[in-house]
Amino acid sequence: MKQPEPAPFPHPASLLQLQTLAAQHRGLSIARFFQQDSRRVEDFSAEAAGWRLDYSRQLLDREARRALLELAQSAAIEEAREALFSGQAVNQTEQRAALHTLLRATATEHHLQPKLEEVKDCRHQMAAWVDRVYSGEHRGYSGETISDIVNLGIGGSDLGPRMVVQALRPFHNKKLRSHFCANIDPAELAAVLEQLNPARTLFIICSKTLHTEETLHNAKSARHWLLAGGAPENAVASHFLAATINIKAARDFGIPERNILPLWDWVGGRYSLWSAIGWSNAFAVGNEQFAALLAGAEEMDKHFRTAPAESNLAVIMSLLEVWNATILGAESCAVIPYQHNLAQLPAFLQQLSMESNGKRVNRAGVTVDYATAPVLWGAEGTNGQHSFLQLLHQGTLLCPVDFILPLAGPLGEDREGHQRLVANCLGQARALMIGRDESTAVNSLRTRGLSRARAQQLAPHLVMPGNQPSSTLSCPQLTPGRLGALLALYEHKTFCSGQFWQINSFDQWGVELGKELGMEIYTSMEAPAAPAFDPSTNALLERWRHEQ
Ligand code: F6P
Repeated sequence: MKQPEPAPFPHPASLLQLQTLAAQHRGLSIARFFQQDSRRVEDFSAEAAGWRLDYSRQLLDREARRALLELAQSAAIEEAREALFSGQAVNQTEQRAALHTLLRATATEHHLQPKLEEVKDCRHQMAAWVDRVYSGEHRGYSGETISDIVNLGIGGSDLGPRMVVQALRPFHNKKLRSHFCANIDPAELAAVLEQLNPARTLFIICSKTLHTEETLHNAKSARHWLLAGGAPENAVASHFLAATINIKAARDFGIPERNILPLWDWVGGRYSLWSAIGWSNAFAVGNEQFAALLAGAEEMDKHFRTAPAESNLAVIMSLLEVWNATILGAESCAVIPYQHNLAQLPAFLQQLSMESNGKRVNRAGVTVDYATAPVLWGAEGTNGQHSFLQLLHQGTLLCPVDFILPLAGPLGEDREGHQRLVANCLGQARALMIGRDESTAVNSLRTRGLSRARAQQLAPHLVMPGNQPSSTLSCPQLTPGRLGALLALYEHKTFCSGQFWQINSFDQWGVELGKELGMEIYTSMEAPAAPAFDPSTNALLERWRHEQ
């Protein structure tokens, strides 16, 4: 079959203009932009829902920004976002809407009202469960109160809730401890269970489909642990909740219907933390703070839906992503939160961005000839400074960074510690931009007492080219509302990038093949006449058999 020609970047006029500008920008200096433009910080900043985006340290001038904003127009971003919010089937391959915004909405348009009623009913049921467990009305099989909640889920049914629980640690209601288990590796569940008393543990099976191998296996192991701990068979009813579309599978597991909360096919797994998939978050912080998380996200939704491109945080961040990845050729990007409790944010954003936009065909199914989503990675500051930031300062890669910076600590205590944290963030962002030239390096070595000859010899090792682009997203203090707004912002940024790249951000066919082959191999491992795979797989299976 003749292969179709690869699809070019879908906005030809903008592309040509952007490529010409990019060629000029390769020789330009971010630091010099500031010298030439006294209003750069104010004009390259935007604010919404408690967050301020400062993108003045990106490698782009006003002309490039104008060209990018024209791209936003030619990509019909406003029409696309209306299609998203109004529930059109923006996930074309699965013919589904992507209405995660409805999960945090307080009001909606007429035709979505029935869906919003279902969402509200689910929120009430979730809240009622939280109240019942907090008050001790709901107890374990032996009559003891619940002390620990374990979320069993993977991917979108784990990463969001796990990250939020950690991010909101200062807001935890101390009544319950939260735990997570995603991996099919029994080591993870064992590490969780060894801390727990079966009689006081409540499991939440979180799985949109309830077909996921890891979650099903872990749920069965958890049930076995509960029963092996002395609980009667019917104890499953008081120790398991489920959040899923697949009500029947949850019932077949032994979970009564009153313990099951629904999901809908118009919510993607990685966009689902706002639904009953976020139940563990409501248990951890209480109903009021969980509602504040949703309210913050709704505030960002309103901003995204109404603000013009030039002041719209998600549109700007997405244009920067297209500029850096597709036009300037950055193959990776880092997110570095300067708040310890946000340590899981990069892992959450990895799924959000890479499962959504890590695609190589456009919506028509034609292979594209331009770069789409970069590799996203990161870790919390200041830890990253002592590991990977070396490469960003002196390596050979262009790697834009998003610094996430709450300006005050969550508890307001150890002011000095937090002040040092902020100074470290600002220091890294500044170092990435200004770098260090050779004569500065020589001078600095000379002040340390080195001879001129030795200083000149060592100086190349101290040179840092700088000009590494970064943005800083700052907020006064991380609250549940601001966290909600931040996560919604990244969701919308991801959506806009999908629109610019003309790809479907809401399917994930790429993860299926590995799962299928894994299952095929699993079922053959102990078969008497094992089928042959490729030589490498066969050899590794042989080694596995040898070890049994
Ligand atoms: O890894 C693929 C995936 O389908 C993700 O998109 C999803 O978040 C995860 O598996 C878990 O799926 P489920 O919630 O259906 O168990």
